[in-house]
Amino acid sequence: MKIAVANGDGIGPEIMEAVIKVFNAAKVPLEYQFVDMGKWVFDKGFSNGMTPEAKATIEELGILFKGPMETPKGKGVKSVNVTARKTWNTYANDRHFQTLSGVDTVFSKAGIHIDLTIVRENIEDTYGGVEHMLTQDVALGRRFITRPGSEQVIRYAFEMAKKKGAKRITCGHKANIMKLTDGLFLEVFNEVAKEYPELKSDDIIVDDLCMKLVSRPELFDVIVLTNLQGDIVSDLCAGLVGGLGFAPSANIGDHISIFEAVHGTAPDIAGKNIANPTSLLLSGLSMLRHLGLMEQSTIIENALLYTLESGVHTGDFGDKSIPSLNTTQFAQAIIDNFGKEPKVNPKPTLKNFDFVPTNSKIAVNPMLLGNKNEEHKIVGVDFFIECNLQPDAIAQMAHKHETNDLKLIIISNRGTQVWPSGSVYTNLVNQFRLRFETGDSQVLSQQDIIHLYSSMSKDFQISSLEILNMWGGKKGYSLAQGQ
Ligand code: NAI
Repeated sequence: MKIAVANGDGIGPEIMEAVIKVFNAAKVPLEYQFVDMGKWVFDKGFSNGMTPEAKATIEELGILFKGPMETPKGKGVKSVNVTARKTWNTYANDRHFQTLSGVDTVFSKAGIHIDLTIVRENIEDTYGGVEHMLTQDVALGRRFITRPGSEQVIRYAFEMAKKKGAKRITCGHKANIMKLTDGLFLEVFNEVAKEYPELKSDDIIVDDLCMKLVSRPELFDVIVLTNLQGDIVSDLCAGLVGGLGFAPSANIGDHISIFEAVHGTAPDIAGKNIANPTSLLLSGLSMLRHLGLMEQSTIIENALLYTLESGVHTGDFGDKSIPSLNTTQFAQAIIDNFGKEPKVNPKPTLKNFDFVPTNSKIAVNPMLLGNKNEEHKIVGVDFFIECNLQPDAIAQMAHKHETNDLKLIIISNRGTQVWPSGSVYTNLVNQFRLRFETGDSQVLSQQDIIHLYSSMSKDFQISSLEILNMWGGKKGYSLAQGQ
């Protein structure tokens, strides 16, 4: 079996060399095809940080094992890490965090054992990077949460929880505030949960989740979250078990999966052969299990856990009274411990996934469709305008453009209603939203909206607009604060 390997930047080549040395010593039956990705590829003029050959190889082989990569600052280029995850639709970021003997934390010292898996949605949310300046003072970012995208990752989390024998699966969200976006994610979670009655499922608001994770982490098992919240919560969990150096990361897709170290390129220690390869090795082990290479992954994991609990460490962690090893020596210590089993650390269990074929070929982009097909109608429009007048003055001007079908209902500023009622204490910025709605029985066409747009544009600088839709009698838009 052949996989694509990208060394990465900074400490990447050193830790990758150490990990492949451990793999080879364990006779892992893999061939490695090295591909060109990272900062030096950006520097050569490839704007997405990878060569066309690298892209073709990864798409051919289906598995990418990668070191950390630097995104050049201030050159308008996007992170190669995020580009890779999004381009190849690795929709589930699966990160397992467990207490490791030899890696002291406040929890391990208090005898609290942590064994948590965070599944983070990896494609959607604000990571689309779809952002616009509506005025010179006002930036707007779009947050995409989709039914099929949520379903892919939530279904993955339930399947993984089932195979793992999880005691609980929890959805973290902020649906009390973001009723449509996080509300949709939670709705899909509850729908999928019905198909897994054997699993205890529940949900929790993300701020409460953070508080409980640092006070009672042992209460949780598998947690599934949207992208940005998952990004933050998973680093919080890394902190609970000793930092990013002990946090593996698997980005799982239906056709291509990416296994990577989650820490950065550590430029301060690059080239010194002192970096800790544990995170990359743990990610490599989850790759071996993903590929069904259980025997080799178990030998290596047992040896790694034994090595850690016997006090062997690199300079960034562990008992300072024991001299630290460099990267090469640390890898050799693991190899020397092949055949040994940990006494304190829990032994790896064969709780992992069945082999998933990874390089099935496809000819066209998969189109993800949800299961809803309800009656659609347009009932209004929100105009976002640039203006520094007071709300009453704006309303007076806007009334002139009302039609029989479309009446001005509210004006809001930063989401807070300021007309027809509001408070003089609400601070304003120079960008308002004007909502025009039709009566209950009316159905509008796109042409009605265009006519209103055309009329409004005579008096207002319109930065953006959103159609107000209804499906199956349900509003497809949120109300303003105070409406
Ligand atoms: P960083 O993780 O590279 O470094 C933070 C601190 O942790 C440094 O003191 C570093 O020496 C230490 N550290 C990190 N990994 C270590 C290891 N394996 N062994 C021992 N010590 C380690 O974070 P920073 O400095 O914010 O980012 C540096 C670069 O890495 C940036 O260009 C950033 O874009 C990139 N980066 C790449 C990621 C990826 O490829 N997945 C993730 C995060 C950052």
